[in-house]
Amino acid sequence: MEETFNSNETVNIVIAGHVDHGKSTIIGRLLFETGTVHESRIRQIKALCENTSRPFEYAFLLDALKDERAQGITIDSARCFLKTKKRDYIIIDAPGHIEFLKNMITGATRATAAILVIDAKEGIRENSKRHGFILSFLGIRQIAVVVNKMDLVGYSEEVFNSIKSEFSEFLVRAGAAPGIFIPISARDGDNFIVPSAKTPWYKEPPLLEIIDGFQSARSETGKPFRMPLQDIYKFTKEGDERRITAGTVESGTARKGDTLIAYPSMKRMVIRSIEGFGVPLKNEIGAGSAGGFTFTEQAYLRPGDLLCRELEKPPLVSSSFAANIFWLGKNPMITGKRYKLKLHTDKTSVFLEKIVNIIDASGLVTEKNKKQVERHDVAGVILKTLKPVAFDLHGDIEPTGRFVIIDDYEIAAGGIITGEAEDSKPFIREHVEKREFTWESSSISPAARAVKFGQAPKFIIITGSDPSRTTDIAGLLENDLIDESRNAYYLRPSNLKSGLYSDVTGEFEDREEYIRRLGELARIMTDTGLIFITALTRLTEYEFDILKTLNEPNEIMLINVDGEKLGENARILNIGAGENNDGAVKSIKKLLYAENILLEYYL
Ligand code: GTP
Ligand code: MG
Repeated sequence: MEETFNSNETVNIVIAGHVDHGKSTIIGRLLFETGTVHESRIRQIKALCENTSRPFEYAFLLDALKDERAQGITIDSARCFLKTKKRDYIIIDAPGHIEFLKNMITGATRATAAILVIDAKEGIRENSKRHGFILSFLGIRQIAVVVNKMDLVGYSEEVFNSIKSEFSEFLVRAGAAPGIFIPISARDGDNFIVPSAKTPWYKEPPLLEIIDGFQSARSETGKPFRMPLQDIYKFTKEGDERRITAGTVESGTARKGDTLIAYPSMKRMVIRSIEGFGVPLKNEIGAGSAGGFTFTEQAYLRPGDLLCRELEKPPLVSSSFAANIFWLGKNPMITGKRYKLKLHTDKTSVFLEKIVNIIDASGLVTEKNKKQVERHDVAGVILKTLKPVAFDLHGDIEPTGRFVIIDDYEIAAGGIITGEAEDSKPFIREHVEKREFTWESSSISPAARAVKFGQAPKFIIITGSDPSRTTDIAGLLENDLIDESRNAYYLRPSNLKSGLYSDVTGEFEDREEYIRRLGELARIMTDTGLIFITALTRLTEYEFDILKTLNEPNEIMLINVDGEKLGENARILNIGAGENNDGAVKSIKKLLYAENILLEYYL
């Protein structure tokens, strides 16, 4: 977007306030005072107004700007481009607060500063407060509160001061940044560019100076490096073996040769090259840029991993956290229901663990003991995810500290992470404890069943990086066991569909749900005394933990067929990449005998 404006810096500012307090007029006045809209165009509009005997409004300049195609700017109804001597701006008009909130929390709109408009004559209204609270909720720390229509109150210092003191106090209670208050008249242009003679008592700078003084998002470059992994591109043409790990840098900078750590998997790799699409290689990449890396060694990463730099402040990794959410869903948010969390590029299941409080935004009344989060509630909550996720506190690094919650394929909430939650029992563990508590055991004991079948049950997972190798070995193992008259079954990966299965990558769109189903199924299958086999590409340690827990009280045998080490786990059989598939089956069989899964005397 930045290139469109031929400028190095674009600052996004949101303008908010109660209806009719003068947002559009202020924007129009800014467009006029800064010369963003040409004087000739303004004369045209004024003439048009005279011809149609309508009073001229500065707000009309917004419409005029929309027609200015010559500048090559595309602007929608809620956005407007503004140019000052110092830099470029996008002014975002927050039409209704619901719509605005939705855009802000989904990341569709990003603003680093805000102008909050209060009508001097009408005073503070419900939406003045609601918007003030929302700015605080969204973590917008730079707020200019403009007391507009000062002409209607005779430029009274008292009126200004009383609004200032009441609203300052409100902002403090809302946890917002202290605002800078400016008395203006958008109609007459007072205190826009130069101090107005009508407010000699006002000693602070005029509005434009304050706007130009806002810090831009560029300050993100000074923060620790964060790049959520978006995708991995594999080049296979003409012996090109490169894998490019691509994403957008959300904060900080990384350079060629830097060691990166991927969270939460904690994999390390060294940057060999920094690539862009159709651009020469770069030596460094910083906040706001999209690009990709190749590493000195192959690293098996996943979209959703958070790439960080070694020796910089690491992100938090947890499966529960405290957050402020704004609920937009048709149905209320309830405990025990599975929702989907989208946090930077990571996706996982999320559950409402606890409602800490529910806040009424305009009055700041805190409701306790509410059992569910209802539509348009702003709530402080504790959320629990199915697997650990990597994130930052919103106050530290904003893009990796915000998320959205999906319910029924729709965005149901947006939120910001405000803190770590005390260690609570992982969700899966809690679930399994409940499940096992009510599990009705068969009258045939597992031991009696094993004697009868001449085998102990086992859940065998064949994992590796090559889907064809893992599935081939799993198939061969099944054949071999059936030939021996064992009770064995190989569950083909695509037979337990959840979401779309990609034949190319061997991955599931909703892999997490797939893992959950597999674990539950394995619990039942192993209860039948079966040797239950499946193939799974690139099992992570977290997934292994989930499967292990879900399969309890039975055990997993993990067979890793390409030698890549899967953590410190004694129960893993590593089969070298060099060993052929038949050899791999022989090794697995040997282990099954050694562990008394296959009982010798049965033969
Ligand atoms: P919505 O978009 O409907 O929420 O309104 P808004 O906040 O954009 O207000 P808008 O700019 O449309 O102004 C509302 C009315 O207030 C218009 O009739 C303006 O002419 C008038 N107005 C705006 N600023 C001033 C001012 O400084 N002084 C006076 N006297 N009138 C003003
Ligand atoms: Mg308006």
